[in-house]
Amino acid sequence: MAKILAIGIATLDIINTVESYPDEDSEVRVLKQHQTRGGNATNTLTVLSQLDHDCHWAGVLIDEPDSKAIVSELAHYHIDTSTCRQLATGKMPTSYITVSQQTGSRSIVHHRDCPEYSFKDFQAINLSEFDWIHFEGRNIDDTRLMLQHVTTHFPDLPCSLEIEKPRFNIEALFKFPTTFMFSQHYANAHGFDDAISLLKSLPANTTATCTWGQQGAWAISNNGEIMHNPAYQPLQVIDTLGAGDTFNAGLIHSLLNKHTLQQALNNACQLAGHKCGQQGFAKLLSNFIFQ
Ligand code: FRU
Repeated sequence: MAKILAIGIATLDIINTVESYPDEDSEVRVLKQHQTRGGNATNTLTVLSQLDHDCHWAGVLIDEPDSKAIVSELAHYHIDTSTCRQLATGKMPTSYITVSQQTGSRSIVHHRDCPEYSFKDFQAINLSEFDWIHFEGRNIDDTRLMLQHVTTHFPDLPCSLEIEKPRFNIEALFKFPTTFMFSQHYANAHGFDDAISLLKSLPANTTATCTWGQQGAWAISNNGEIMHNPAYQPLQVIDTLGAGDTFNAGLIHSLLNKHTLQQALNNACQLAGHKCGQQGFAKLLSNFIFQ
């Protein structure tokens, strides 16, 4: 069991499942609706906690009615929130999500009126207790300071950084010695038509992965070796929401267990594919064997 800290967000996800994705300016009936906690960092922790790790979330929690469900779901997965910043006013980030039953795709409309977790908050954490730190690629100026802090004061503490969305100056984070997890969305937004060209464009000695939907995922090792793993398709795609966050958890778990990068890529793809075959993250490992 490792002690893992993730810095990022928790959201309220309001999920509408529809038969197929609606046209603009149309009206469709929802087949089912449910609300749950979401957010990349906390999704990743939810999976890592089921892999028996001691998980801690550092983010912002606002004392308002919607946070109750978020906090109780985190508690259900034994995710510690003591390093969070607690605010008396504001609104938890909220995602309005449309899941198409036809394809399993998820489209997200995100509402945000909540401050970011700051470097000042981060500095108060006793990092010497942790075995791994995972960052969401957001809040770039403060995340840069956090990574700088870890690199300077805890050079042996392994880190990972998710680069999912293109954000102004996010490339300033590429110089840090962490494991990077890129998304196809980021690669496409920067004009890369395939994962390999993105990975090859990174600074020398970078360890990184890049997921590419049904084509699977690629990785580059710190000596420049490129590897690929196909996607694992579940019998039926039920829910792809958080598949990338699950991939990240599988990768972190494998790397903590000292698997090779190729093995870790394989495990991460398998776990992410398995997740797409079920709704949400509950009991994700009940019929999955992690290698
Ligand atoms: C899925 C997810 C959702 C959340 C949204 C935030 O990866 O974390 O749970 O609403 O993305 O961008």
